[in-house]
Amino acid sequence: MLPLIFLTSAAINNNLGPDPAVRLARETGEWSMRLLLLTLAMSPLKQLTRSSQWLQYRRILGLLTFFYACAHLAIYCLFILALEWNQLRVEILERPYITVGFFAWLILLPLALTSTRSWQRRLGRRWSRLHQWVYLSTFLSLMHLIWQIRSDISEALVYTFLFLLLMSFRREKLFSSFTYFRRRGD
Ligand code: HEM
Repeated sequence: MLPLIFLTSAAINNNLGPDPAVRLARETGEWSMRLLLLTLAMSPLKQLTRSSQWLQYRRILGLLTFFYACAHLAIYCLFILALEWNQLRVEILERPYITVGFFAWLILLPLALTSTRSWQRRLGRRWSRLHQWVYLSTFLSLMHLIWQIRSDISEALVYTFLFLLLMSFRREKLFSSFTYFRRRGD
């Protein structure tokens, strides 16, 4: 929660620079992206260190990702769009980087809601299938970021490299879900 504390204190002390709303939107967007990648890193870390202790952090990191993504969306709606809901609809429909960001957020919503043990028990094997949508959400978040690059691409390159690296650990699992969906379709 440290980024939130720093941002709140900077806002209270009027220390957010010339455009506080954009600065808040950028910082919360950055933190959702970082936390999303950190959440995805827990399984590979388990594999690499042969210790399952990493998995105990996965849920809280996932929930923090969702928390920052909601803060990001709330700041955008409140301070940039001034709660003009019609404008939000137009932005989602007409600006591709907002469209993909919105879908990335929308996918995170059911994942956060079903993150509890009771939902895990209730959904059984379907729970893992559902939670694999996190990869699509990360991919869309990266597109959201790349689509708005103005000059410096270094940050987007680092996030993309980390995402591809984390995906390489997941090749088999993703392939098995692909064949699962194909079999269901046959
Ligand atoms: C409905 C959902 C979303 C909306 C409306 C939205 C909106 C925005 C806007 C307007 C900006 C540009 C701020 C500016 O530079 O003027 C931005 C930047 C960003 N957003 Fe989102 N976003 C959404 C979802 C997400 C999600 C789910 C993530 C990641 C998990 C994310 C990560 C980022 C990042 C990393 C940036 C770039 C920050 C920078 O310039 O350094 N956004 N978003």
